[in-house]
This record gives sequence, structure tokens and C-alpha cells, in this order.
Amino acid sequence: MIMIKNGNYNIIELEEVESTNTYAKDIAKDGAKHGTVIIADKQSAGKGRLGRSFTSPAGKGIFMSIVLRPDIEADVASRLTLVAAVAVRRAIKKVCGLETGIKWPNDIVADGKKVCGILTEMATELEKVKYVILGIGVNVLNESFEEELSNVATSIYMLTGKKYDKELFVQEILSEFTICYDKFIEIKDLTGIKQDYDACLVNIHKTVKVINGNTVFEGICRGIGNEGELLVETGKGVQKIISGEVSVRGVYGYV
Ligand code: BTN
Repeated sequence: MIMIKNGNYNIIELEEVESTNTYAKDIAKDGAKHGTVIIADKQSAGKGRLGRSFTSPAGKGIFMSIVLRPDIEADVASRLTLVAAVAVRRAIKKVCGLETGIKWPNDIVADGKKVCGILTEMATELEKVKYVILGIGVNVLNESFEEELSNVATSIYMLTGKKYDKELFVQEILSEFTICYDKFIEIKDLTGIKQDYDACLVNIHKTVKVINGNTVFEGICRGIGNEGELLVETGKGVQKIISGEVSVRGVYGYV
């Protein structure tokens, strides 16, 4: 295990781990400080949202989790996932000039496929947050994906034809996240990033399908509200979609 000091963050690098989120959760339970970052070269059981897995082959991506201890309520903390999406998107743009979009709530997409996924988990006590684990997975150097993922996943290399140093992304993600996080903690809603978020929301003003268990409906995506909810206009007015277990996609395919 290598320990590096990086500004506000304590970075712990691991060669292989089941999931950096699970590892971060374990050390957070034991008192790991705000700003502890776990980075692994490979995950054997990388986790995605909605119980899905996240493919994490050795050396190909950034698999990192940040332990945060904000003094906020649980429902406010769930907005952090959108804050992170904006920060990662800005970091990608800075490192390689690539314009990416956001698929609500927090997938970073390009060419109609996912290049980064974010998984936020938290522990609470009496509605207050004890800790938040912000897990970020970026496909950086993958040359291809197995057949069942090839329609939905892409990598920085596949998009740009260049093999960027993963370290550059980590540094930029942490510095952009710090800027977005500090602003968010000050105002506790998303007014600071809403404009930026909506500008790169892939489905804005398009028809989306909202899937919540057996309930499925369609409407026009109108951007996010200040609390991170997706605003979807239907015949019955504007519906506020809260992240949770809901999946929102375009009517054609993944994005
Ligand atoms: C998603 O696409 O649904 C979210 C994917 C989140 C993947 C990252 S990789 C680092 C961290 N550890 C995990 O097990 N998952 C997150």
C-alpha cells in the first residue's frame, strides 16, 4: 500500500480490491477522515448503480472512492452525485479536450456510450450524514469492451485515440471536485452548477422514458431542479424525478 499526500486528500493506492467503495466504507466505519481517497488498479467486484456491476480490468481505468464527512442531512447529500458528475466532466475536458455529456443523474457519456459512472453511498444517523462514499469509475485506456457492453460503454482511448496518463485525470478530478464541493457545501443546493449541468444534459428537451419498477412513462426532459431532481414534462404537468431506484433513458437505446 502506498500513501501519497495530495493537497486536501490522503490517497491510498491499492493494486487490487473487490470494490473501492466497499473498502472506503470499511475504513470510514473505522474512522477514516474526510478526504481519504482509495484508488485501485483493478476491482474484482466493481459496483454500479441499481445493483449493477462495473467492469474494472487491471490498469485500464480509474477506480476511486472518496470518503466525505459533510455536516448535512441525508437528502442533501444525495445531490453530491450530480456535483461529482459536473466535476468529472470538467476534468475530462481539461485533460484531453473531450466534450462529454451527462446522462442523469451521473453517467458521463460520449458517442452515446458511458465513459464514467458514479456511485454514491452513505451512512446516516438521525437523518444526518455520518459519511458519504463517492465512487468514481472512468474508462481510460480500454481498447474494447466485451460484446454485451460494447453498445453502452466506451473509453477515453476509444474516443480520442490517445493513451493519457491516468494520474492526470485523478489530479484534475480531485481539483475540480474540490471547487464544486466547496461551493455546494456553502449553499447546499445545486444553483452553483445547474446551468453547467443542464447545458450538457444529453436528453434535455428530448423525450425520455422513466422506469421505476413496473411503472414506466414518457415525457420531455426539462433539466434538473435545485435539489437534483430531474424535471420531466408530461400531459399531467411537470413531474419531479428523484434519483433513488429510478432509471431514465432516451426512447432509443442506452442514452
Ligand atoms: C454506474 O455506472 O452505475 C456507477 C459505477 C461506479 C463505479 C465506481 S468504480 C470506483 C467505485 N467502486 C465501485 O465499486 N464502484 C465505483
